[in-house]
Amino acid sequence: MLASKRILLIIGGGIAAFKTLDLIRRLGERGVTVTPVLTHAGAEFVTPLSVSALAGRKVFTDLFDLTDEAEMGHIELSRSADLIVVAPATADLMAKMAQGQADDLASTLLLATDTPVLIAPAMNVRMWQHPATQRNIATLQGDGIIFAGPNDGDMACGEHGPGRMAEPLEIVAAIEAALADGPLKSRRILVTSGPTHEPIDPVRYIANRSSGAQGTAIARALTALGADVVFVTGPADVPPPEGVVLHRVETAREMLAACEVALPVDAAICAAAVADWRMASAASSKLKKTAGGLPQLEFAENPDILATLSQHTQNRPGLVIGFAAETDDLEANAVAKRLRKGCDWIVANDVSEATGIMGGSENAVLLVTDTGTEAWPRMAKDRVAARLAQRIADALAPKV
Ligand code: C5P
Repeated sequence: MLASKRILLIIGGGIAAFKTLDLIRRLGERGVTVTPVLTHAGAEFVTPLSVSALAGRKVFTDLFDLTDEAEMGHIELSRSADLIVVAPATADLMAKMAQGQADDLASTLLLATDTPVLIAPAMNVRMWQHPATQRNIATLQGDGIIFAGPNDGDMACGEHGPGRMAEPLEIVAAIEAALADGPLKSRRILVTSGPTHEPIDPVRYIANRSSGAQGTAIARALTALGADVVFVTGPADVPPPEGVVLHRVETAREMLAACEVALPVDAAICAAAVADWRMASAASSKLKKTAGGLPQLEFAENPDILATLSQHTQNRPGLVIGFAAETDDLEANAVAKRLRKGCDWIVANDVSEATGIMGGSENAVLLVTDTGTEAWPRMAKDRVAARLAQRIADALAPKV
């Protein structure tokens, strides 16, 4: 599937650059042409010779190299690939990307390109968690940059936590997802997933048992058919899919804001288990047990994301799909919900405890559309996802 694809690979300056050598080899095995760009900091960790020997091509390093400019200008270089991959993407490189700086070859290529960009961040856990990096991450996600990782784990600096570069084969999977050809190619699809957390005070929150498994499986299945997926997820149990534009949120209101920013999209699939209520005002300090009795919690209603998207006046997605998790009268509730929310389809499932569906690996769904109800047999959640993705592909006319 990757054979004959062209990747411009920018190698940043971090210890994880050694893994990028393996990435080049893995991509080569799959028939990918890798054009390497090594930053000056990257060259402190891996040599231009090893990079170019593994890639079987010249390695580009300098913005103001007269020979390179005569052979292929940097603007042309930035557009000569199907995908730009940055691995490792250091905190510094991500900051430059977020700011639009162009003071060396790598940052200039990233600013000049009109090609999709996938980054594999790698940095110390504190650097990853720093508010400045988190702001840059949000900016880059909003710009449509695709993230592969980082993973949680032990780091070369001796610390533990998020910031480890994704493994070469995980990056290959993310690249495959980003370059997938299929009936949903060039279709932009929004998927919400996971639960939301609604704070009561700084340490407590309202949550639900959604694992995010079905939403994640749907995002994967859509990506496999070539869609550009914007994945907006609450704090889920399962790791997010590779190869999507990822937005992590906590609350329903943050989820709605991330969805609004993602518009316009060709389709929206609202698989998130959004909390219906939040605290009217979350306490800014921890609530204490007092002799005076129990705390009085006042609720406020959360925005309904599915209904908002379905009834959007300027930017309604062409196809809006909601979920109905019910314990009684599944079909009647799902039919009523479709009309009440204004969405096109409802995927309904029975989440009574005996079914083992909530948090489990299988699902048995009803698909409710304007033409009636179909009962799908019980199957693994990723098979439900694949079948739904195919139905979505059939419903959206091929894009020319
Ligand atoms: O109203 P109910 O929660 O049963 O509807 C479920 C559907 O509505 C799901 O698709 C869910 O993602 C969506 N929903 C939403 N925003 C809410 C509540 C539910 O998008 N606040």
